[in-house]
Amino acid sequence: MAAFGTVFTPEMIISRFNDNSWSTPEMVASDSIKLHPGAHVLHYSSTCFEGLKAFRHADGGVYMFRMEKNVARLQQSSKLLALPQFEAAMLSQMILDMVKRFAADVPTPPGSMYIRPTHIGTEASIGKAAAPSLESLLYVLLSPVGDYFAGGSKALRLLLEDNARCASHMGMVKSGGNYASALQPIMQARATVQADQVLFCPNGDVQETGAANFLLIDGNEIITKALDSSFLHGITRDSILTLARDRGMVVSERELTVDELLERAQKPGAEAALSGTAAVLTPVGTLIHAGKEYTVGSGGAGTTTNALRQALNDIQWGKAEDKHSWLTKVC
Ligand SMILES: Cc1ncc(COP(=O)(O)O)c(C=O)c1O
Repeated sequence: MAAFGTVFTPEMIISRFNDNSWSTPEMVASDSIKLHPGAHVLHYSSTCFEGLKAFRHADGGVYMFRMEKNVARLQQSSKLLALPQFEAAMLSQMILDMVKRFAADVPTPPGSMYIRPTHIGTEASIGKAAAPSLESLLYVLLSPVGDYFAGGSKALRLLLEDNARCASHMGMVKSGGNYASALQPIMQARATVQADQVLFCPNGDVQETGAANFLLIDGNEIITKALDSSFLHGITRDSILTLARDRGMVVSERELTVDELLERAQKPGAEAALSGTAAVLTPVGTLIHAGKEYTVGSGGAGTTTNALRQALNDIQWGKAEDKHSWLTKVC
């Protein structure tokens, strides 16, 4: 099985922003963009992207999960990066057209079609370190993906890192630079303590990992950091919290310190998990901090984590009622 995100459909849909207007979206070969080496994105990182999924139901229909949330987040990222603004309706239609065109390639569960809308600043100007790109390119790539949990959902090892993942006003922007600044800490954590991921906790504030949000489950309570500009406002996080409320759980969106996390995580029955479009809800079994290892609850996948992941998958896969109208039918 090819690695996640390495297989692409032969075409993508693109629209260009030039002279203050967007071109009519068109289908082009997926490997066909032409970029000036002085393009703003290549020097000043004017890039943002999204990740969402389309699922095939048992009746053959294809459905997208919470597309409008991802479209709104890309609009917000574009605004914070001073990239040209676009209408939500335009990008939604581009995504719909793409998924419809390649509907036959949408895998059956547990596989799905991963959708990657991307927006980059293309103006050829190496003198714009402190000025926005007046030209841009918006495109939608598709990548059929398999089961992220093939081989079982092993509980992860996380290294708690005192530094921030990125600049504190940029965390809510889904931008390449944030991933670049998190790369070395993640590589070091893998090499030194065999951690799977880094949980960024600047000044003891438990934020998120390199590509997922963090949730602590203690009995009937689920605790996660309240939304602010320092981390990505995950759509899976929002969905899991909604499903937790539906089940009568107490949802606490507030500050969580490293001290409180380490104390509560060691209680019998405690669970921790990462939420994200790719990871869905992945259990965390071990926290590593200041040279010590702390086992979360039993150290394996918790029952609440499994139940919440199943509840989310059941909606995505058309096996449970879509009470919150999260699905958009493509065809
Ligand atoms: C840094 C970061 N945090 C959180 C998430 C989870 O966001 P979502 O649930 O919208 O996929 C992601 C993945 O997209 C991410 O890259």
